[in-house]
Amino acid sequence: MSKYSLPKNFLWGGAVAANQLEGAYKEENKGLSVADIMTAGANGKNREITDGVVDGKYYPSHEAIDFYHRYKEDIKLFAEMGFKCFRTSIAWSRIFPKGDEDQPNEAGLKFYDDLFDECRKYGIEPVITLSHFEIPYHLITKYGGWRNRKLIDFFTHYAEIVFKRYRDKVTYWMTFNEIDNQTDYTNQFLMATNSGLILKDNQADAEALMYQAAHYELVASALAVHLGHRINPNFKIGCMINMTPIYPASSKPVDIFQAEKAMQRRYWFADVHALGKYPRNMEAFFAKNELRRDITAEDRLILSEGTVDYIGLSYYNSMTVAYKKENPDFHFVGPELVVDNPNVEKSSWGWPIDPLGFRYSLNWLADHYHKPLMVVENGLGAYDKVENNGEIHDPYRIDYLKAHIRAMIDAVEEDGVEVLGYTPWGCIDLVSAGTGQMSKRYGFIYVDKDDQGHGSLKRIKKDSFFWYQKVIQSNGTAL
Ligand code: BG6
Repeated sequence: MSKYSLPKNFLWGGAVAANQLEGAYKEENKGLSVADIMTAGANGKNREITDGVVDGKYYPSHEAIDFYHRYKEDIKLFAEMGFKCFRTSIAWSRIFPKGDEDQPNEAGLKFYDDLFDECRKYGIEPVITLSHFEIPYHLITKYGGWRNRKLIDFFTHYAEIVFKRYRDKVTYWMTFNEIDNQTDYTNQFLMATNSGLILKDNQADAEALMYQAAHYELVASALAVHLGHRINPNFKIGCMINMTPIYPASSKPVDIFQAEKAMQRRYWFADVHALGKYPRNMEAFFAKNELRRDITAEDRLILSEGTVDYIGLSYYNSMTVAYKKENPDFHFVGPELVVDNPNVEKSSWGWPIDPLGFRYSLNWLADHYHKPLMVVENGLGAYDKVENNGEIHDPYRIDYLKAHIRAMIDAVEEDGVEVLGYTPWGCIDLVSAGTGQMSKRYGFIYVDKDDQGHGSLKRIKKDSFFWYQKVIQSNGTAL
């Protein structure tokens, strides 16, 4: 096999996150997480973040698709598709219901023991995220989320407990899911899910809080990497970046420079994870704007000693920005500069569809960080229809995935990028993070449940199930 082709042991699989599929939100002492206080939104309508669980409101994570009780049936279906790996997360609040306890919840630990054993029974390698939008709610109400330095200790204690417990069951880990989402600090959902920052209408200090919280997360991540390698030197511990390449709207130099500044402002998180220090462009930014107020010499040392083994990434779409003269400093937060890209199609939720942007992203990350990549999310959220005979035909999903897998293989074969695995998002239908909907479906496996929480939860194989099975069987040659 040539060095520039997918290796025989390429990790084909699928990805989910605990809070979006497990349900059982209070079972066996699980504590509330931030996901458990988010109501369902709709296409174009934000989810509401409530003060605790409010009677009479609908919270999709509470039951989700009941994976907690049905995981054996679901893993069996993944095995039937030929999965080599399965990416999920550990719900932090199952292990530490409040987040600040000394002793873990044994029932929570036992659940993941059983889940990982079930995967291993089929030769499926678990790929585990430590924190995927599910910080214990108590850490928000008592400590204000990641604005508080104490969270570093709580997180590393949690990481140490699970690293030791699953030392021989899990090799691939990631620390914080899509840590760069919070670049848009004006978005309540992103601030709450990334950092447990719930600011309500008080946005005044949001930018500084975000940079401080992100700094503590990066220190916690570096400590976890260091710790994990001591517990098991074979561990591969990665970061997880939401890779949305930012294109200039035109060839005007101001647009090109604006896109470059936007890339810097969004991807410095990956620099710190992978290179162990803040890039000079961010140091210059902080020198001018007092936004990261607490950083110590010891923090800098920790960052330099805890660099990740690989870059985990999600890729869904590209984004296009245009310069605005009201913004002569080329500042970038997110939506304020985004313009339509007429050269790409859009999903039913308005997300651009851009397979070449995926190849571009893989090249960009490989060129910047010189580390292996793992694609841990990619996919198309779409409405599916169950036919009268019970079948589900989803050619749009197959088309999307086919084009993206083609682009990934081109990046490997033509551009020499090293990719360890590919786990399309929501391999089984689950709750959408952004909207809380069930009808925004990504899966190869349909789950009978609607946006109001009704349905039998029955699992049905879609056409894409059989297609992906062949893709895996052929190691990506039969697309
Ligand atoms: C990523 C997240 O942002 O995209 C997942 O890591 C999320 O948790 C996925 O579900 C798709 O987004 P959405 O909003 O369509 O669920």
